Amino acid sequence: MKQMIVEGSHKLSGVIEISGSKNSAVALIPASLLSSGVIELTNVPNISDIDALTEILTFLGAEIKRTDKKMRIDCTKVQNKEIPENISKRLRASYYFMGALLGKYKHVEMYFPGGCSIGKRPINFHLEGFEKLGAKVIIEGNKYIVDAEELIGTDIDLSIASVGATMNLMIVATYAKGVTTIHNAAREPHIVNVAQLLNKMGAKIEGAGSSEIRIEGVTNLGSAEQEVVPDYIEAGTYVIAGALCGNHLEIKNLVPEHIASLTNKLKEMGVAMDVKENSICISARENYLPIDIKTEVYPGFPTDLQQPLTPLLALAHGTSTIQENIFENRFMHIPYLKEMGADITVEDKVAIIKGPTSFRAKQVVATDLRAGASLILTALVAEGTTTIDGIEHVLRGYEDITQKLTNVGAKISIQEI
Ligand code: EPU
Repeated sequence: MKQMIVEGSHKLSGVIEISGSKNSAVALIPASLLSSGVIELTNVPNISDIDALTEILTFLGAEIKRTDKKMRIDCTKVQNKEIPENISKRLRASYYFMGALLGKYKHVEMYFPGGCSIGKRPINFHLEGFEKLGAKVIIEGNKYIVDAEELIGTDIDLSIASVGATMNLMIVATYAKGVTTIHNAAREPHIVNVAQLLNKMGAKIEGAGSSEIRIEGVTNLGSAEQEVVPDYIEAGTYVIAGALCGNHLEIKNLVPEHIASLTNKLKEMGVAMDVKENSICISARENYLPIDIKTEVYPGFPTDLQQPLTPLLALAHGTSTIQENIFENRFMHIPYLKEMGADITVEDKVAIIKGPTSFRAKQVVATDLRAGASLILTALVAEGTTTIDGIEHVLRGYEDITQKLTNVGAKISIQEI
């Protein structure tokens, strides 16, 4: 087990470079399996979710070469096999293998996916979409068996703009006969990124990034190269760090537009930022104003950033609120923030945060990825030395977080316990 140790009250100055997006890479890698050739991905983040996916691809017969941030996936010898439960449950994104294998082989057997315990997280939209395309879904214990004689393009209406379902249905429909249209599709930058790869492979996808995606089925997909888009959640996390304790902290290699919902809210709080084409420079201030946040699908305020934002709201002078509309169980960082001095009450899906707070160090636990990020940010401004258990969750999604923060002046380390 790994534990993070953070000595608080140090200012952060210098440059943090943003890595490739976790939620994009974890879809691009399974989508690569649709190819009968070789896929080369660049700007792939070095995080443990990618290690788990590499294991699955290798198990399926793909030949993987990883050098620095490049990943070469040779799909010429891939076979359709049942992925062992102990690997597929290590991450949420294993559900993308359902779409990829069903599309390519018209048959897939897979166990329930894993991932952060932040809510019920059903995959009924994915399964209903597979069925609309002509597949039969059988649930046997904790395994899904999905089979289709053929997949036929259709109209699919998502009642919630689910990221996972949009991506999975776009992947599978690439090999369906005729045209599939996904209505109320999610619009996140990673959906555009995956459509870019599939189109380079030979797919015919239009409208990714809008709420209506049209996919004209094809019969073969070949080799292609694709760069992973910058991680806007990682970028947002470090921008918040800058607002907490930055002194000319520059966040580089991001697309500012992808986090406009965050930076607009930070401006409302009185945070001063210098936003350039692909960087944001930020210094902490006193006397932030309280704000109200509601999490929404993109381009609304991302659920993945409400936990990292909570400590900043606790520093504001007055009462802020966060309404979490996407997941039912995404306030697990709050008991620990309270132990560290925050005045927060949770009423159903709303957290009420009364500031200002003087945080003090404690021993706390990261219960999930973004809860962990929230605790690290809190520890950076707390008085004393905080220890955070369960830091493996954070390493699933933030590349080199210790090194990136150390480079800008944080006193932070990870030890085995
Ligand atoms: N939903 C259903 N049925 C479905 C699919 C989704 O009811 O079949 C519900 C979910 O329960 C949730 C909402 O719809 O209430 C949105 O879920 P979505 O499908 O969009 O989320 P996801 O695919 O499970 C991905 C990211 C999450 C991120 C969300 C929202 C991956 C691997 N995961 O999850 O990332 O929070 O989209 O943007 O891409 C993280 O990075 O920390 C993380 C949890």
